[in-house]
Amino acid sequence: MKNYKVAVIAGDGTGPEVIAEGLKVLGAAAKKFGFEYETTSFPWGGKHYLATGDTLPSDAVDTLKKFDAILLGAIGTPEVKPGILEKGILLKLRFDLDQYINLRPVKLYPGVETPLANKKPEDIDYVVVRENVGDVYCGIGGVSQPGTKQEIATQDMVYSYFQVERCVRFAFEEARRRHSKANPWRGLSAEDKAAGKIAQVTLCGKTNVLTYVFGLWKRVFDEVAANYPDIKPAYCHVDATCMWMVKNPEWFDVLVTSNMFGDIITDLAAMTQGGMGVAAGGNLNPEGVSMFEPIGGSAPKYTGLGVINPLAAIGAVAMMLNNLGETEAAKSIETSIAYVTGNKLKSAAAGKMGYSTSEVGDLVVANL
Ligand code: IPM
Ligand code: MN
Repeated sequence: MKNYKVAVIAGDGTGPEVIAEGLKVLGAAAKKFGFEYETTSFPWGGKHYLATGDTLPSDAVDTLKKFDAILLGAIGTPEVKPGILEKGILLKLRFDLDQYINLRPVKLYPGVETPLANKKPEDIDYVVVRENVGDVYCGIGGVSQPGTKQEIATQDMVYSYFQVERCVRFAFEEARRRHSKANPWRGLSAEDKAAGKIAQVTLCGKTNVLTYVFGLWKRVFDEVAANYPDIKPAYCHVDATCMWMVKNPEWFDVLVTSNMFGDIITDLAAMTQGGMGVAAGGNLNPEGVSMFEPIGGSAPKYTGLGVINPLAAIGAVAMMLNNLGETEAAKSIETSIAYVTGNKLKSAAAGKMGYSTSEVGDLVVANL
């Protein structure tokens, strides 16, 4: 029997509450689908930083490399000023574990309210492949004459061919994983299907202004696309992408983009799928250790009330299992989430579900 080693960083605020439900579902799935796992908890986060002055111990990354996967709750507490925990924990792990893909499925579950008028679950079902280690996030830049009215600050948008190529290639492979000849993407035209297309990958960039960086992205995108005759390539500027995500989300299948654009558009995307309570994501190193998380924050004002929606954390567990190769278990969790949203919850919003955080976890377990 497979035995997975899972590192758990529950973190701050509502992180531990939602992770508890994720682990509850993981336990039930293990029994039902016949695999074993061991969890090891790490205390890192805002509270730990305030108590010890340490974001991560110096051996954290080496320690985590020995696990099969990492499950992360949420990092952040209002007492610590912005930047310290983000850079010292979340971004450090993404970078040092070379989790170069941030995979963020955008899926409207049945019964979940979307602010987009007249859009149904079949209209909002795509995935964003966000490059996760380059761009303005890489920390190149600086400040001159800080604190004065002459202050100059730069933060460089940096991308290498290597970084762009592996990300774009992942997006095309992901498109193939999502679809097949027997199950092509529904947005394809009859002509596309007749031409053998099964899926679409859209590059989201800004080639009209950021001509250096997105010139590189577009060149690489076209090169990679030429190796995937079964995938329809498309391009959309980032501003227009935001517009279509609201107006015609059904136009998207796989969206691939840079780190900063991906950060921004996935918050917009999360709102269209019913909010942070349901949006899950994976920081992937396809050749190494990946880290799965609900994409929302630590929600300090809801901490300890048992009202936060754990479905994003449970969805992160499903993504983790899928990544580990437990595809049946992953599918079953997703089906159960869809059953629970479609038949049980009054709303996906915190405090309005009609159930407590832990009751929602129980419902997912009961319907596995
Ligand atoms: C996210 C978050 C992080 C990011 C922050 C907390 C550093 O917004 O995961 O989207 O910008 O990537
Ligand atoms: Mn973000």
